[in-house]
Amino acid sequence: MMPKTMDQEIEALRERALAAIAAAQDVKALEDARVKFLGKKGELTLLLRSMGELPPEERPVVGKMVNALRDELNEALEARRSELEEAAVAARLAAEAIDVTLPGKRLAKGGLHPLSQVLREIQEVFVGLGFEVVEGPEIETDYYNFEALNIPPHHPARDMQDTFYITEELLLRTQTSPVQIRVMESRKPPVRIIAPGKVYRVDAADATHSPMFHQVEGLLIDKNVTMGDLKGTLAEFAHALFGKDRGVRFRPSYFPFTEPSAEMDIECGICRGSGCRFCGGEGWLEILGAGMVHPNVLRAVHYDPEEVGGFAFGMGIERVALLKYGIDDIRLLFESDIRFLRQF
Ligand code: FA5
Ligand code: MG
Repeated sequence: MMPKTMDQEIEALRERALAAIAAAQDVKALEDARVKFLGKKGELTLLLRSMGELPPEERPVVGKMVNALRDELNEALEARRSELEEAAVAARLAAEAIDVTLPGKRLAKGGLHPLSQVLREIQEVFVGLGFEVVEGPEIETDYYNFEALNIPPHHPARDMQDTFYITEELLLRTQTSPVQIRVMESRKPPVRIIAPGKVYRVDAADATHSPMFHQVEGLLIDKNVTMGDLKGTLAEFAHALFGKDRGVRFRPSYFPFTEPSAEMDIECGICRGSGCRFCGGEGWLEILGAGMVHPNVLRAVHYDPEEVGGFAFGMGIERVALLKYGIDDIRLLFESDIRFLRQF
C-alpha cells in the first residue's frame, strides 16, 4: 500500500475533527474534542511536530495547510459552542416558563385577636376621656404589688390573689395596681392614666378564670374627686363597650388600697340576666374592682391626702371580651383555634 501523502492525512484528520465537534452534545464534550485535536498532545499538534521529517521544500506548504486547518477547527469549535449555549438557554427558558394567565396565590389576611380588639376599644374610650396609656413591669417587687398598696405582709388580702413568687422579694404581678404606685412616684398630681398588661395568679382555670390574664388599671388623682366621678366614668365606659341597654351594677366590696371600694358587674352575655351555667346562675359577671384611693396609698407616694384624692379601678379584659361577644369560656381566648378566632 502506498503511504498516505501528507495532504491525505491532513484531510482525514480534518474530517474526524469536524465530526467530533459536530457530535459534541454539551460544552464538556466539546472541550474534550478541542483537547483531542488542538491540545498540547492533540493530533494536529503532533502532526505539526512530525513536519521535521519532511523534505525542507515541502515544509512551508504543509505548514500552511496545518495552520489553515487549525483556524478552521477553532472556528468550528466556536460555532458549536454558541449553538450549545443557545440551546442551554432555550432549554432553561422552556423549563422555567411562567404562565402569566394562572391565578396568583391568595395570601390569608391576618386579623387582630379579639382580646387586642377589646383592649383597643377600651383604650379609645379612656383616651377620649383624657386618660394617658402607660405600662409597668410584669415582674414586680413585693413592695409595689402589695406593701405600697396598703397590703402589709401576712395581711389576709394577700390570699385573695394567690401569687407566683420568683424569689422572696420578686413575683409575677397579680394585678396592674402596682403601676399606680410607679406613676404617682414619678409625677405630681393631677394624674390621669390607664395601664394595660398581663397579670398572673395561682388560679385554677375554669370558664371565667385563667392563671394569666389581662387587666387595665385606671387612676385619676386631682383635687375634689368624688365617688360620683368614678361611677360616671365607669358607666360611660360600660355604655361605650356594651351598649346602653346592657345591665350594669355596682356592688360594695373591699380592697386594702381603696376606701370605699366597689365591684362592677355586667349582665351576663350568654343568658342576659336570667342565670346560666356560665355566670353560675347569677345573671351577672364581675368585670372590675374600683374605689377611692386609700389615704395610706397616697402617703406611700408622698402625696398629701388632705390636698388631693382620686379613684382607681382594675378591669379584667378577658371578662370584657367574654361579655361583649357572648363567649362562654375564657379558655377559648388562649387556645389559638383559628375556627374560633376567624369569627372576630
Ligand atoms: C383587682 O385585681 C384589683 N387590683 C382591682 C382594683 C384596682 C380595685 C384598683 C380597686 C382599685 P380583682 O382581684 O377583683 O381586683 O380583679 C379585677 C378583675 O380582674 C376582676 O373583676 C376580673 O374581671 C378579673 N379577674 C380576676 N381574676 C381573674 C382570673 N383568674 N381570670 C380572668 N380574669 C380575672
Ligand atoms: Mg374581684
